[in-house]
Amino acid sequence: MKKQSSGKITAARIAGRVRTAAARTGVALPGGSGRTVMSLRALSKEPPVPLSAAAEPNRFAQRLFTPLPARYDRLEELLSFGQNARWRRAMVDQIQPAASGTILDVASGTAGVALQIAARTNARVIGLDLTEPMLREGQRNVTAAGQRDRIGLVNGRAEQLPLADASVDALTFTYLLRYVADPQQTLRELARVIRPGGRAASLEFGVPPSGFFRFWWWLYTRLLLPVGGLAGGGRSWFAVGRFLGPNISRHYQRYPVAWTVDAWRQAGFEQVGFRVMSLGGGLVMWGTRAGD
Ligand SMILES: C[S@@+](CC[C@H](N)C(=O)[O-])C[C@H]1O[C@@H](n2cnc3c(N)ncnc32)[C@H](O)[C@@H]1O
Repeated sequence: MKKQSSGKITAARIAGRVRTAAARTGVALPGGSGRTVMSLRALSKEPPVPLSAAAEPNRFAQRLFTPLPARYDRLEELLSFGQNARWRRAMVDQIQPAASGTILDVASGTAGVALQIAARTNARVIGLDLTEPMLREGQRNVTAAGQRDRIGLVNGRAEQLPLADASVDALTFTYLLRYVADPQQTLRELARVIRPGGRAASLEFGVPPSGFFRFWWWLYTRLLLPVGGLAGGGRSWFAVGRFLGPNISRHYQRYPVAWTVDAWRQAGFEQVGFRVMSLGGGLVMWGTRAGD
């Protein structure tokens, strides 16, 4: 990874970088609203998003995800026994009523969710992610699906979005809150960019509430996931497999589901709801931006 530039990084500086790159390449958010997006073509000429000294979780996530893109899509489905696709659909169901305008997909990775949103709505889609190699794979997927006109990919941080207040009509985020230092602050930042009345939905792993299923989940995440990761993807996937189970458990010890529901409300969402998926292995949450 390239060394990050020093100096205080402000939202304005990131927004400036996005605007500069967009101006140079002529890439603008479809719709002519003046809001701009950095495409992967622009991105490839830019250094990675600068991280402030305090952003250790960001560095950790970048280190974790940088070696994964090549096998990510295949292994994600395999290691979740095909459940991930079902969970994604359930999440996108929650924003589908707001199916036009601009939808932001945060922690977009290889653009699987962004592609599904594009396929199921008429919206323009922005996929934003911290890890450039994930986005590069995403760009290949977007191009292969013939969706380059509908989906723009942006290298950025969920904690500091390079977008104006109330500038998107709906938002999704996937497997994000375990990777940020302050989930409450991040939820506020996500809420900031959604217009009043706009929908948001998220997907995250969960811990089964039933002791019986939790036992099997524990065996799966502590044994099968690392071994399956190693067999399917080598050392970097072994590291992910070993990391995930304990990380999910720790996250919910610190931020139980009830805390997260409350955090969505504190961030400015109303009608907050959630659905436990696959006996508790997945969690889809949603809400509506308050204030219209
Ligand atoms: C498990 S992947 C999910 C990718 C995709 N949404 C999917 O469902 O396949 C999590 C993604 O979150 C990204 N990520 C982690 N922390 C982030 C942050 N603070 N801001 C933006 N993206 C972040 C990682 O780079 C990674 O691509």
